[in-house]
Amino acid sequence: MGRCLRLASFSEDSGSARRTFLSAPMSECHQEIARWIRPLEVPARIDAAGNLRAVYPAAQAHAPRLLIGSHLDTVPNAGAYDGVLGVVLAVALLEELRGRRLPFAIEVIGFSEEEGVRFGAPFIGSRALVGRLDKELLGVVDSQGVSVQKAIEEFGLNPKEISRAALKNDALGYVEFHIEQGPVLEKLNLPLAAVEAIAGQSRLEFTFLGHANHAGTTPMHLRHDAIAGAAEWISAVERGAQEVSGLVATVGKIEARPGATNVIAGEARLALDVRHSSDEVRTRAVDNLIRQAREIAARRGLSVQENTLLSQHAVAMDPFLVGEIEQAIIKTGCKPLRMVSGAGHDAMIIAEKVPSAMIFLRTPGGVSHDPAESVLQDDVEKAIMCGLHLLDQLASSPEFYKRTNRA
Ligand code: GLV
Ligand code: MN
Ligand code: MN
Repeated sequence: MGRCLRLASFSEDSGSARRTFLSAPMSECHQEIARWIRPLEVPARIDAAGNLRAVYPAAQAHAPRLLIGSHLDTVPNAGAYDGVLGVVLAVALLEELRGRRLPFAIEVIGFSEEEGVRFGAPFIGSRALVGRLDKELLGVVDSQGVSVQKAIEEFGLNPKEISRAALKNDALGYVEFHIEQGPVLEKLNLPLAAVEAIAGQSRLEFTFLGHANHAGTTPMHLRHDAIAGAAEWISAVERGAQEVSGLVATVGKIEARPGATNVIAGEARLALDVRHSSDEVRTRAVDNLIRQAREIAARRGLSVQENTLLSQHAVAMDPFLVGEIEQAIIKTGCKPLRMVSGAGHDAMIIAEKVPSAMIFLRTPGGVSHDPAESVLQDDVEKAIMCGLHLLDQLASSPEFYKRTNRA
């Protein structure tokens, strides 16, 4: 937990944690983790997508590998544990092996980008591992006009080497520890859970365009106010989600131009996030919200454009690994629970190529994406014990080795 707090100090903002894709503090974060694993004689490298990768060798050369990791980027005003805890726990597991070699190598991965904060598009790091950091994604720009490709170059990495970051066919599985980020485990008084599925998510950017004009002289009935149109639509987003069981829809960001008290806004840009465990329900909701935005804009003499940044389907975790995690939770002395994750995770991307599963830790108060985010020391200890049981189970499981990689 001290290590998580230490990594939170590497921030773009003073006084709060923000570490976005390949920002300068990400480099400090990499150096710190490399220092921790140096005594294990495990060298860390940074791949061309900015992911930290470190391989703890197997008992024998040319053995396959188990991947364990999570992400190192954060949201603005972040807590210390989202993502980071999964990387810190992976390092702790290597330390707890105390030099013992397993029949498989363990690759620790600290993904460079999962949150989608800098570019609006999430999972940049994990997409590189499954061969999906493509030209289109490399061309996406941040609010300063810097593209993903340029950010990679500015960090001293070579975008031409991105294909070398992709997983080879020697990965047996991917396991990710993560805080639950919700209230379920706390309500049930349980420390750990096995994640059996991750809800799908859509992220879109909407731009309402009207006419900027004088706030004092333009009568109300002659206005084309982009913010007022956007506000009507935001209310429709909230109402629409409240009407469908399990649907969550959020407008978490709004930017207006020109942005002055005495000027009617000519432009409002909004970010929409929609999630549901059923892809059909989610995509239908997104279609409805696009239709409503157009109706509202037309009625108000505005125009609206939408740009889809992500449409990620829901993903089932690997049943074999979920069962093994459940067994490991029982061996740790805890009651097992299987649950669906409402948050997105790198595991949903890696699952495209490699059998993947996750272990959730109870999140006090269900608070996350906020500095008040926390974990309980006892739960972290149980997570390490659970991880060690899992490694032992996998090491002695013929079925684990039989599984072929889908890469
Ligand atoms: C990642 O934190 C997400 O937005 O689900
Ligand atoms: Mn997050
Ligand atoms: Mn996360």
